[in-house]
Amino acid sequence: MISRIKSCGLLGIDGFMVDVETDISNGMPAFDVVGLPDAAVRESRERVRSAMKNCGLNYPQKRITVNLAPANIKKAGPFYDLPISIGLLVSSGQLALAGIDEYLFLGELSLTGELRPVTGALPMVMCAKEHGINKVILPPANASEAAVVDGVQIYPARSLGEIVAHFMGNQLLEQFTVDIDNLFNLNEEYFVDFSEVKGQESAKRALEVAAAGGHNCLLIGSPGSGKTMLAQRLPSILPRLTFSEALEVTKLYSIAGLLDEDTSLLSTRPFRSPHHTISAVGLSGGGSTPRPGEISLAHNGVLFLDELPEFSKDALEVMRQPLEDGKVTIARVNATLTYPCNTMLVAAMNPCKCGFHGDSTRECTCSESQIRQYLGKISGPLLDRIDLHVEVPAVKYNELSKKSNAEGSKEIRSRVEAARKIQQERFSDYSGIYSNSQMTPAMVERFCSLGEQETAILKSAFDNLGLSARAHNRILKVSRTIADLSGEENITVAHLAEAIQYRSLDRKYW
Ligand SMILES: Nc1ncnc2c1ncn2[C@@H]1O[C@H](COP(=O)(O)OP(=O)(O)O)[C@@H](O)[C@H]1O
Ligand SMILES: [Mg+2]
Ligand SMILES: [Zn+2]
Repeated sequence: MISRIKSCGLLGIDGFMVDVETDISNGMPAFDVVGLPDAAVRESRERVRSAMKNCGLNYPQKRITVNLAPANIKKAGPFYDLPISIGLLVSSGQLALAGIDEYLFLGELSLTGELRPVTGALPMVMCAKEHGINKVILPPANASEAAVVDGVQIYPARSLGEIVAHFMGNQLLEQFTVDIDNLFNLNEEYFVDFSEVKGQESAKRALEVAAAGGHNCLLIGSPGSGKTMLAQRLPSILPRLTFSEALEVTKLYSIAGLLDEDTSLLSTRPFRSPHHTISAVGLSGGGSTPRPGEISLAHNGVLFLDELPEFSKDALEVMRQPLEDGKVTIARVNATLTYPCNTMLVAAMNPCKCGFHGDSTRECTCSESQIRQYLGKISGPLLDRIDLHVEVPAVKYNELSKKSNAEGSKEIRSRVEAARKIQQERFSDYSGIYSNSQMTPAMVERFCSLGEQETAILKSAFDNLGLSARAHNRILKVSRTIADLSGEENITVAHLAEAIQYRSLDRKYW
């Protein structure tokens, strides 16, 4: 008899329903899997056979055909071991189909019949829910994330044997639940705080502006001046994650296999800090078994590229479009995948090769041409995505030795949230635009108009400081954010002057 068991696959960050159809017929013993399986799926045969035997179940010595429908999408990974074995048990009459067809099954099997965790359980359970399935059997290690999906009953099972016992009515599986509201509120905690950063008032102000308008920024300062320390604290002043943003972040980590067993929901903004030796694919995502890259793992949070000039040209190049679009698109043979990457980029660099150009305590040993060459590595397209250049001078010893009474992240964040609220209203008619950094040229014209005096100042800044054309709209966008932070409708001279300060690289070197 033919049985049909429900399971799920992954395409990008979303699940799609897979029907596992199993047919057992008389003839030479064989086991074929059709429906675009990859190597891992084909290997299911061996695991399923062993698992069934080792759980004391009867493996049918007949002609077995398994079809994974729909047949036109490639099925990757070992997700289907469990639904295939359930299909075999039903088709061979060892389990009755009634009741089983209400469940979704996910899980890899070990040779002894234990259930092993799968990646992407969260998006797959979300998909099940969309298709009206409200019972899921999966490995215990995937239970925490799956239980976040409201209205779906999650039954973790340790082994194939436990599942059989459940359906025979011998020993029912226990439902696993989490208290979502409680969890979401409890975990909203950052382990670092701006109050720990002594001095650095102007760098902190610049980061507040960056956070308020969603502006990418570049920190420039000598080694040890506190660039990493500042960048790490940026997520703590960004607006609180909403529940749906938290779900998106958790989905990406689920797919990448980076959720630990006990984590149901990631409710803080991510901070990713890949080493400069990372490959282009590692940054942007993709690969033969597609995986989100660092830029997507930083979705709704911060991607920190320390020592920016050390990254390979390829790696920097590959990020340009995604930073612009907020998503990474990966072409596959049969499909196109997208991973979201609504990410704030924070880059850091020394001011020169030796690191001490402009430092008040140590002498720079670089020649002018060395400095030019060093800065030249980051010129061009990527720099075009960066709105603020923030100079981070080394803090003096007596400042460091003082007891800190600096403002904490919470207070800064409340100002950031107020400024974001203004932007939300401003852009309510524009879909996909949430912050000043995302404004198109036409929107800049509409929302950043200047008075006579302000226009004159901007013009003289261009003439006197030799600002480049690329600086123009960035200065206007950042001015808009600074005005929003002070709750003002019009961009004034003071707002503009501050924004011009944040273009130090244009000023000095290009
Ligand atoms: N403003 C500061 N307040 C407190 N500690 C600081 C400050 N600046 C630097 N430090 C200390 O110096 C260490 C090195 O700073 P770091 O952020 O790694 O510098 P950078 O990334 O610029 O090389 C930090 O871990 C911190 O302990
Ligand atoms: Mg550092
Ligand atoms: Zn130098």
